[in-house]
Amino acid sequence: MSKPRILVSDDEHLISSMLALKLGMVGYVLETAASGKETLEKFYDFKPDLVILDLNLPDADGLELLVKMRASDDTLPIIVITANILTDSAVNAFKLGAVNFFGKPFDIDEIVLSVAQSLNEKKIEDAEITPIGRRNISTPDQMIGNSPKMVYISKLIFACASTDAKTVLITGESGSGKGLVARAIHQYSARACAPFIEVNCAAIPENLIENELFGHDRGAYTDAAKKQKGIFELADGGTVFLDEIGDMPHTMQTKLLKILETKRFRRLGGEVEVETDVRIIAATNQNLTQMVADGHFRGDLYYRLNMMNICVPALRHRLEDIPAMVQYFIERLNAEYGRRIKMASNEALEKLLAHSWPGNVRELRNAIERAMMLEKGNVLTHFHLSEESPQTYRASSPEPQASDYKAFVADQGQRFAEFQLPPEGMSLEEMEKQMITLALENASGNQSKAAKFLKMSRDTLRYRMKKFGISEAMDKDPNCKMTESAQRKSKSDAYTAFKWADC
Ligand SMILES: Nc1ncnc2c1ncn2[C@@H]1O[C@H](COP(=O)(O)OP(=O)(O)OP(=O)(O)O)[C@@H](O)[C@H]1O
Ligand SMILES: [Mg+2]
Repeated sequence: MSKPRILVSDDEHLISSMLALKLGMVGYVLETAASGKETLEKFYDFKPDLVILDLNLPDADGLELLVKMRASDDTLPIIVITANILTDSAVNAFKLGAVNFFGKPFDIDEIVLSVAQSLNEKKIEDAEITPIGRRNISTPDQMIGNSPKMVYISKLIFACASTDAKTVLITGESGSGKGLVARAIHQYSARACAPFIEVNCAAIPENLIENELFGHDRGAYTDAAKKQKGIFELADGGTVFLDEIGDMPHTMQTKLLKILETKRFRRLGGEVEVETDVRIIAATNQNLTQMVADGHFRGDLYYRLNMMNICVPALRHRLEDIPAMVQYFIERLNAEYGRRIKMASNEALEKLLAHSWPGNVRELRNAIERAMMLEKGNVLTHFHLSEESPQTYRASSPEPQASDYKAFVADQGQRFAEFQLPPEGMSLEEMEKQMITLALENASGNQSKAAKFLKMSRDTLRYRMKKFGISEAMDKDPNCKMTESAQRKSKSDAYTAFKWADC
């Protein structure tokens, strides 16, 4: 997976080499130019994904260069820097399509952040425009919260994203936003154009997890008719998010440690070692230190993962974020359900601020969703909150069993039939395919609804559909029914993956 390419154009050698050094450390591919002529030459040869342009070059007017480059590539993000910010050039640069403007001296971290944001916006923009010009992906979830605790978390996210730290451990209670933090790290890093693949270690039975992570070579076992890449190979250049890492079986912990140390692994039944460049983000709501002390988690792996730790605070410890979150969720759910709720009443907000939120942000979102369903007017007044004692980190968790397949999904009042493993057995992939097929069938082919059933983003669903060759035609014809009626179900969150659209 190719890394984003950045051209830094500045005649001040110190500035361009400082920027190149910092951005290179983040993981971008860099090229520098010291004149207008060189800038254009490198622009055509190097084909950058983003340009940082000094407006005051010795042989050219920076604005003219900007116009020429944008005429050749109208989606190219150009970040402008200049010694003299007190001129009309800033306004003109914006009018001509610059995405951001910095006066010298600048804070280099702000430029790095602006680069990550601009590349990310470009990627989303490119992916959203279908041949008929319609948006086809939903806006990713945003992280809301201006409390000092959340500002601190944002800084940690940015620090992880901009240093390409190879391992990050995210801890925190269930529903506090660990998954969101993991995605944000990926999204703001130079890896953003490569896949982000999420694995729930608690949901995959021990005998299948190795195959999922490492893949297999042809003939590795009786049914292995052809080679299959595992997640570590599919995510090359990107991020693997190992959710619920505390539930990873001991044998896999050893193999994971080896990958972290050598960046190499073997597929099941494979002879050769495969090299991979992935960042591993692990998350848990268990107390890993205690698990290490009890001998349930490898100490060496824990120390390796814990080199960078982000502990997401429980919602009850940052209640001041609630009003902004409430408004955000109302607006998102308005768009989703075609409602026009304006806000929550002051009395309702007071009630929300007095609650202890054992289920954290997920509970808040669910409470708002429920209140919106019940509300007839345009102001939310009634919230039904169940008071439970706040959860702390889990002390232990049951090992996943093959019988975990016998689970139930109850979504939006709909109950699926119990899933039974056929006597001849079934691969996890086949099961996942069946589940996606079933969800699409229940949603009459509507991908947004099916993604909601499966508690995954629409991007994830589309990625999985493509992987399994499930027809996209269903989404276009709401009456289209799937022929294969799979009266089965399984865990909805067994394994999800999504790939940000290619750059
Ligand atoms: N700061 C936030 N702003 C907006 N939405 C948030 C925030 N934090 C979490 N959410 C939302 O709350 C829900 C739960 O978040 P998430 O799944 O990331 O939690 P988690 O800590 O990974 O939970 P679990 O341990 O159960 O996996 C998601 O819908 C997420 O988008
Ligand atoms: Mg999670």
